[in-house]
Amino acid sequence: MAKIVILTGAGISAESGIRTFRASDGLWEEHRIEDVATPEGFVQDPDLVHRFYNARRAAATAAQPNPAHIALAELEADPGHEVLIVTQNVDDLHERGGSQNVLHMHGTLFGALCHSCEHRWPAPEVMSPTDSCPSCGAQATRPDIVWFGEMPYRMEEIWHALRAADLFVSIGTSGNVYPAAGFVADAMHAGVPTLELNLEPSAGRSMFDEARHGPASVLVPQWVRERLG
Ligand code: APR
Repeated sequence: MAKIVILTGAGISAESGIRTFRASDGLWEEHRIEDVATPEGFVQDPDLVHRFYNARRAAATAAQPNPAHIALAELEADPGHEVLIVTQNVDDLHERGGSQNVLHMHGTLFGALCHSCEHRWPAPEVMSPTDSCPSCGAQATRPDIVWFGEMPYRMEEIWHALRAADLFVSIGTSGNVYPAAGFVADAMHAGVPTLELNLEPSAGRSMFDEARHGPASVLVPQWVRERLG
């Protein structure tokens, strides 16, 4: 049984029509990170933040999994493989592509979180600053998304899986944001072989044992076919 940890980023969902962050037409070209992706920005203007994530939630709901998502689900279903997908993405395309073992380290668009009591519940399609928490009643609901300056979710589990893996694969991420960008170094230090599948060389390219560059919808099914023989 081969244990594989797969890190995914916005690039795996790009061909499903979901915008990435740092491309020339990326989200961070139009929005200031400080305004929409920090706790301070949320306190400053919760309405702006909710509008930003409501639009992303609508886009994710309208999108469909692409061949890269579907191929990873096929690999997971193979009895000779134990696959953990650690995704930075907040869409649900891995799950809709058929993957079961998906860890959302940056949260999800489809979850709501109370900024006051930390209660969690499924997010309504449209969230607003006047929504109140079903548990404590506070009007402090936010999308269950990890913002800059906050600790990503389930990091101990991720590091443990990385050290125990037979292979680490990184798909569709630019390698600019830590701690995810540091996983290749963590894998390397644990003696775990590493592979990058990305449209272009990522910031961490030099640390990967192997790299293949091109669209995920081509590279990922190709790689999975090789694995499944
Ligand atoms: N196939 C494969 N890779 C692609 C494709 C594609 N079709 N399209 C784009 N890419 C690659 C780009 O070359 C780039 O390296 O995906 C990467 C996307 O990089 P970013 O936009 O920086 O997104 P990501 O790495 O996921 O960002 C990490 O930063 O903004 C925060 O929290 C946010 O989770 C996000 C984190």
